[in-house]
Amino acid sequence: MDVRNEQESWQMACHAEDFEGEEFLECRVDGQDILLVRTPEGIVACPALCPHMEERLAHGMVDGNVLTCTKHLWQWDLCTGDPIGLAEERLKVAPVRLEGGKLLVNMERLRHGGTTCC
Ligand code: FES
Repeated sequence: MDVRNEQESWQMACHAEDFEGEEFLECRVDGQDILLVRTPEGIVACPALCPHMEERLAHGMVDGNVLTCTKHLWQWDLCTGDPIGLAEERLKVAPVRLEGGKLLVNMERLRHGGTTCC
């Protein structure tokens, strides 16, 4: 990916103050519903809906870097998107960065199932 495309991949999800003190925040970015999740390593992004049966992942739990969908207990490592335990599919994840008081998500990596994000 060239530098221009890399820069265009970063899109605003919300103002940083909107996520202050929150564990999860759903946002709509570039026509896609995404979820911001706070981890000990930083903030990451993933799709808002579970890849299993589309439960809202904001109804789940996060413990360290592990996200759990409480509907059927699929779990993922939020750093890599790798499935844990019962999960049968990867979770698309992407990095989030703070710039000028805004949280920006790398949507290119989210669309293509970004790998390491923390
Ligand atoms: S809907 Fe999320 S684990 Fe089944």
